[in-house]
Order: sequence, then structure tokens, then C-alpha cells
Amino acid sequence: MTAQLDLSRFQATGAETCFHGRHINPQIYAGLDGRNWRLADYVQRGGYAALKKILGHGPQGADGAMTPDQVIAEVKLSALRGRGGAGFPSGLKWSFMPRAFPGPKYLVCNSDEGEPGTCKDRDILRYNPHIVIEGMAIAAYAMGVKTAYNYIHGEIFEVYQRFEEALDEARAAGLLGDKILGSEFSFQLHAHHGFGAYICGEETALLESLEGKKGQPRFKPPFPASFGLYGKPTTINNTETFAAVPWIINHGGQAYLECGKPNNGGTKIFSVVAVVLKKKNFEIPLGTPFAKLLELAGGVKGGALKAVIPGGSSAPVLPAKLMMELTMDYDAIAKAGSMLGSGAVIVMNESRCMVKSLLRLSYFYQHESCGQCTPCREGTGWLWRLVDRIEHGKGRPEDLELLDSVAENIKGRTICALGDAAAMPVQGMLKHFRDEFVHHVEHKTCKVAQPA
Ligand SMILES: Cc1cc2nc3c(=O)[nH]c(=O)nc-3n(C[C@H](O)[C@H](O)[C@H](O)COP(=O)(O)O)c2cc1C
Repeated sequence: MTAQLDLSRFQATGAETCFHGRHINPQIYAGLDGRNWRLADYVQRGGYAALKKILGHGPQGADGAMTPDQVIAEVKLSALRGRGGAGFPSGLKWSFMPRAFPGPKYLVCNSDEGEPGTCKDRDILRYNPHIVIEGMAIAAYAMGVKTAYNYIHGEIFEVYQRFEEALDEARAAGLLGDKILGSEFSFQLHAHHGFGAYICGEETALLESLEGKKGQPRFKPPFPASFGLYGKPTTINNTETFAAVPWIINHGGQAYLECGKPNNGGTKIFSVVAVVLKKKNFEIPLGTPFAKLLELAGGVKGGALKAVIPGGSSAPVLPAKLMMELTMDYDAIAKAGSMLGSGAVIVMNESRCMVKSLLRLSYFYQHESCGQCTPCREGTGWLWRLVDRIEHGKGRPEDLELLDSVAENIKGRTICALGDAAAMPVQGMLKHFRDEFVHHVEHKTCKVAQPA
């Protein structure tokens, strides 16, 4: 397995090609400089070869053609897992699409990206939009879909415009539309400007929003694979998930799998944020030690490493000692009691007060709860108010148990996972940094601010 953790070939391309403070690398961020996002640049980098390959216009001519089942089989073999948060196997998800269903079926790209700390999807769309278009076209071919939408976060206009321009280029070149590249495959892809709410990233709330309604999650089942957009079979994947697909088709599922580790294929983009020297997106093979990622980010700023939130604000915090022993992949982080989530790695140094940090997170979740489910609507407000009074020296000894109990009573009792996302950080903080909460209650001051 040493080859899996050999970063040299990733850095050889990636480290040289920084732009706007972003770090880039081969599979998705390969060879980008911030200006070469246009179709001609993408084609020069080998872009659209995978689409041509499956449609029979590859270097091997008609022999290069792949059937939809073969495409799905490659994606399954690759062990690509959804990059939106849950890490669900993408090939398996694609196989749920009832291809023989008469009438419209849809494909949706989730570019809502609202998780605090995460800033990778907007960079993919800004700097390499055609890789998403190509990935979606391949996915549509595999699932027998003719119409797709990319739901783009409502507050990032530049990215939306960039994607629209890329769509125009692809249409003009016959890479989107009717009878793509002279084949029998027709595929229309449209950009949709989202409404800027975190909840609209939850896949069924996104579908409601796309239909022009208030973005609130739907009950599941029925799942989108059978009852999705406009009640039709729909597959939803994250931007980064689609962006991984052309590489898999060009190089094969096995090669992608070997880039990562078993059950965790390929590379993953991590947005390393907060107190590191280089706050950037890093694309590294899954299974890379966290210590290596931290080293790429230039190390911790302003003091020793105290803790890390390894997968965006919804992921439970992990203490430094534990984190330094972990590899960055879905299974290792889950085993340690957290999750890889959307890939935002929030690095905290010893000067960070965990009560104050939790207060910021709890404020976010009570603000973003859509209000549909009582445990989430009421519970997130309770969590925020409890942490607020502990932070401000008004906490009572029983508040810690109350915090845990409120969190426990939200978890698993809501239509969507926003409730869990609000509860898990609370329980993670109490599990690993309870002493700081106790100190706040007992001394009405912050432990980390105390002189030693
Ligand atoms: C509150 C909430 C917000 C979410 N936000 C996003 C998001 O911004 N982008 C995303 O891809 N997935 C988000 N998800 C996960 C999606 O519901 C869904 O699992 C994902 O888009 C599926 O794509 P994947 O299989 O490629 O990961 C969110 C989930 C929840 C519960």
C-alpha cells in the first residue's frame, strides 16, 4: 500500500500550480492556473476524452464505446464515494436509477455548498467547470437521463456566471444538446441559481427549491431514485463527485481505487481552514495521514494543535493526539467517532476556547434550521441558548447534562440530517473537552484565557 500514500506525483503537478492561494492537483485540479478554465484549455488537458470514449469517439474509435452498465461497473469498482457529506457509494447510487422508467428522469448536481468551512465545489466550478459538465454527461449516459440541473449556491454569482459560460461553450461544440458528437445520446444541462440557505443543500430540500417551492426537506421514503424532481426518478450527486468521473473513465475504476485505499477510492479535496499557514484546498489521496495534510498546509499558526473538526461544521471535533494518528478517509475518521463529511478541515490551536467555538456552531444551526420539525426547530435554539449562557458565565452545573440531553433528543428525530448535524458537534465537544465547559460553569471564566 505504500504507493497509495505516495504524494510525490500529486505534488509534482499540484504544488507547482497555485492560484489565488489555492493548491491544486492532478485528478480534478490538474494543471489549473485560474485562467485556463475555457473549453479549449480543458480539451488540451485531455478533457472530454472520457465522454468520447464512452460514446465511441475515443482514440480506439468505435471500439472505445462503453455500455451504460459498463460505465456504472467502472464507477462501482472505483469505490468513489459521494463527496457531499454522507460518503454513499456513487456507483451503487447510480444503479438505483430505474433506467427503463418511461418518461423523464433527472440528474441533479448539488453545488449548494453551505457547510461552514467548505469551499471546494465553488473552486471546481470556477477553475474547472467543464470537468463537472463532462462528469454529468457521463453519469446521464450511464443512467439513461436526458435532462439535468446544477443547483449552484445562491450567494456566489461569479461561479454561476462562469458555469453558464462553460455550458454555452459545450453546447456550441456539440458536447451538450441533441445527438452529442453525432451519437444517439442527447443531454441537456441547465444551471440553477439557488436561494442561499444551508438547508437547500439537503437533497430533497434542494429538489423542492428547484421546483420553485420553499426549500424544506421531504420525508424519505420515497427516495429521489423513485420520486425525485417533479416526482420523477432522480439521482443527486455532489459537484466533486461528478468531477471525479472523467478520470475514472479515462484511467479505469481499478486505477482510481488504487489512488486511495480500499472502500475509499481516489483523491478528495480538503478545504483546510482556520489556524494554518496556508488556508487552501488540497487534493490528496484518501488514506493520506492527517499529519501530512497539516504539513502541506504549512502547520498550525499561533500555538500547538489542540483539536480538529475533520469534515465540516457538522462533524464532531477530535482532539489533536487522536487526529495526528489518523488517516484522512471515510472509514478511519468514522472509526474515531467523527466523519469526513464535506471535507472541510477546521484546525484549532491551543488558544481556542471550545465553549466559544461551540457557540459559533450552535448559532449557525439554530439560524439555519428550516423549522419544519419540532425537535430541530426548538432544540437547536435550546442548544444555542444553553451554550450562550455557559459562555457568558451564567451556566448552571446541570446545564451540561441538559445540553447532552437536548442533543440526544434531536438526533434521529427529524426529517433530515440537519438536526443530527447540530447535535453531533455538541456531543463531540462534551466528550473531548468537558473540562472547559465545567470550568466555565464553575469559575464563570474561560479556561484557556487563564494564565497557567
Ligand atoms: C443540512 C444538509 C445540508 C447539506 N448540504 C449539502 C451541500 O451543500 N452539498 C452537497 O453536495 N450535499 C449536501 N448535503 C448532502 C446531500 O443531502 C446529499 O447527500 C448529497 O448531495 C449527495 O451527493 P453525493 O452522494 O455525491 O455526496 C447536505 C445534507 C444536509 C442534511
